[in-house]
Amino acid sequence: MEKDRIVYPYISSYMQKNRRKRSGFLGELEQQARAADYPISNPETSDLLEILCRIKRPEKILEIGTCIGFSALLMEDSSPAGVRIDTIERNPVMLAPAKENLKRYSKGGITIHEGNAVDLLPGFSEEYDMIFIDGAKGQYPVFFRECRRLLKKDGILIADNVFFNGYAAEGLPDIRRNWTIVRRLNAYLAELENDADFKTVILPISDGVTLSYRMEKTENKA
Ligand SMILES: C[S@@+](CC[C@H](N)C(=O)[O-])C[C@H]1O[C@@H](n2cnc3c(N)ncnc32)[C@H](O)[C@@H]1O
Repeated sequence: MEKDRIVYPYISSYMQKNRRKRSGFLGELEQQARAADYPISNPETSDLLEILCRIKRPEKILEIGTCIGFSALLMEDSSPAGVRIDTIERNPVMLAPAKENLKRYSKGGITIHEGNAVDLLPGFSEEYDMIFIDGAKGQYPVFFRECRRLLKKDGILIADNVFFNGYAAEGLPDIRRNWTIVRRLNAYLAELENDADFKTVILPISDGVTLSYRMEKTENKA
C-alpha cells in the first residue's frame, strides 16, 4: 500500500482503527469507489478537506481531478449552502459516473469542466477561496502557476500525492518513466516553498499533502 512508504504501518493501522467511518451517501459512495478501484482521495485527505471546508467556509472552490465526484460532493456537503465548485476532469471513464453521482447527490453547486486542466485553466478568470489539486502529478508546476493566479488572498491551496510513493523525497525511482514526475514534484514543492505569498506545510498523511495559505500580505524572507 502506498501509505506504508510514508507512514509506519503500525501508525497507519492505528489511525485507521480509531477513525470514525463516514456515514450517509458520502460513506456509501466512498465504499463503492474503493470497491471499484476508483482513485478517490484516501480517508485522511478527505477528512482534511472536510475540516478545511468547515473552518474556511468557502464560497467558491476549484478542483483539478474530479474522478467520480467524491471529493467535490464531500466539499459541497461540508461548505455553507450556496457554495460553487468548479471541478476539472479529462477522462471519459471517470466523467460518466461523476455525472451520475452529481445528478443523484449534488445540491446543484458543482460544475464539471471536461478536458485537460492544462488547456482549460488559462481560460479561468474568477478567483477562488479554496483550490484542491488532485490531477496528474507531472503537471503540478503548471497547475500551481495557474492556481496561484486564481487563488484569493487569505485562500487555501491543497495538493494531494506530493510524495509520489516516497520517491519525491528519496530520489529517482527504478522506473525511468517516473523520473519526470519526481523532478516536477520537486520543482512544485520548491516553487511553493520559495513563494513569499504562501505559507506551506507538507503533511505526511496519505501520499503527502501540501497545505498552503495565501498571505494577506507578502512575507519578507529572511
Ligand atoms: C486522484 S483522482 C481524483 C480524485 C478525486 N479528487 C476524489 O478524491 O474524489 C485524479 C483524477 O484526475 C484526473 N486528471 C489527471 N490529470 C488531469 C488533467 N491534466 N486534467 C484533468 N483531469 C486530470 C484523472 O483522470 C483522475 O480522474
